[in-house]
Amino acid sequence: MSADLSCRYLGLDLAGPIVASAGPLTGRLDTLKRLEAAGAAAVVLPSLFEEEIVSAAFQLHAMHNQGAGVFAEASSYLPDVPDTPTDVDRYLDLVADASEQLSIPVIASLNGMSTGGWVRYATELAQAGAAAIELNVYLMAADRADTAATVENRIVDLVRSVREAVSIPLAVKLSPYFSALGNMAEAVVGAGADGLVMFNRFYQPEIDLESLTVQPSLELSTAADLRLPLRWIAVLYGRVPCSLALSGGVHTWGDVIKGLLAGADVTMTTSSLLRLGPEHVHELLRGVTAWLDEHDYESIEQLRGSMSQQSVPDPDAYERSNYLKVLRHGAARYLPQYVRVED
Ligand SMILES: Cc1cc2nc3c(=O)[nH]c(=O)nc-3n(C[C@H](O)[C@H](O)[C@H](O)COP(=O)(O)O)c2cc1C
Repeated sequence: MSADLSCRYLGLDLAGPIVASAGPLTGRLDTLKRLEAAGAAAVVLPSLFEEEIVSAAFQLHAMHNQGAGVFAEASSYLPDVPDTPTDVDRYLDLVADASEQLSIPVIASLNGMSTGGWVRYATELAQAGAAAIELNVYLMAADRADTAATVENRIVDLVRSVREAVSIPLAVKLSPYFSALGNMAEAVVGAGADGLVMFNRFYQPEIDLESLTVQPSLELSTAADLRLPLRWIAVLYGRVPCSLALSGGVHTWGDVIKGLLAGADVTMTTSSLLRLGPEHVHELLRGVTAWLDEHDYESIEQLRGSMSQQSVPDPDAYERSNYLKVLRHGAARYLPQYVRVED
C-alpha cells in the first residue's frame, strides 16, 4: 500500500504536500484545473496589488472628470465611461469561480500599500470564498528614514489588522531579508498569522548595456535556490507555532522530500511548473510516493521535521560554526592544485 500523503496546512486538510504557488499559471481557470488534475493539493492565486487598483481608480477618476469644468453645457462632451469591471472585480470573480469549480482549497494573495487597503481587500477576498489569504508583504525598505524596527512593526501591525478583520486562515509570505528573521517570524505569528511562506522571490532589475536602461527582470529559480528556504524551515520547525510552507527552488520530487524532512508542512512551486507545465505536479507526486515506499514510510507525517535543526545530531550544521568549516576546508576543492594546502 502506498504511503499516506495527506497534510495539514493553515488548518486546511490537504491531499498531498505540493501547492502551486502564486504565478501566471494560477491566474487562469483552465490552468488551475490542470494543476488540480495533476495533483496540486491547493493553489495560491497571483497577488492582487493595491497599487494597481489605486492607479486604475485614478485613471477612471481622470476619465470621469475629463472636460468637467469647461462649460456647464459641455456635460454632453464628457466621455462615456464604460461600465467595465475593475481589476478587483476580475480578481474577486476568479476567486469565486475557482473556489466553486475546484475541489482543492483556493488561497487568495494580497499585496497592499495602506493598512486600510489590506483590510478592505482581505475582507472582500474572504467574502468571495477564498479558503485562506496569503499576505505578500513585499517591500523594498529603501527609505533611509525607515529603521528596521519601523519596517517590521509596519508589517506586524498590518497582519494584526487583517487578522482582526477576517476569520479565514492567514499566511504571511516573507522575504529572507530581515536582520533577525527568527524574531520577525515569531512576531508575525504573534500578530495572528496561521502560517509562514518562506520565501518570496523578488524581481531584480538589470542594466541593459546597449540601451542603458534599467530592465525589469524576474528569472525563474534553479535548484540552488532551495538551500535558503530549506535552512530556515529547518531552523524554525518546532519553534514557531504555525504552519510552514517552503517556497523557492522546488523543482524535483527530491526537493519536495527535502522540504518535508526540514519541517515544511507543504512545499510550493512556481518556476518548475512554468518550465514543465502543470502536469509536472504529477511527476513530483510519483517520485515522492516511490521514495516514501522505498524507505518504508507509511505517511508524510512520519518523516516531517526529522532533519530539522532540533532533530539532527549536529544542529550546528544549520548555523554559523559550519560556515567556518566550509570556508576553510569544504571550499578547498575549488582551489587550483598549486595553492591547495593538505589538512
Ligand atoms: C512569473 C512569476 C510571477 C509571480 N507572481 C507572484 C505573485 O503575484 N505573488 C506572489 O506572492 N508571488 C509571486 N511569484 C513568486 C512565486 O509565487 C514563488 O514564491 C517564487 O517564484 C519562488 O518559488 P519557485 O522557486 O518555485 O519559483 C511569482 C513568481 C514568478 C516566477
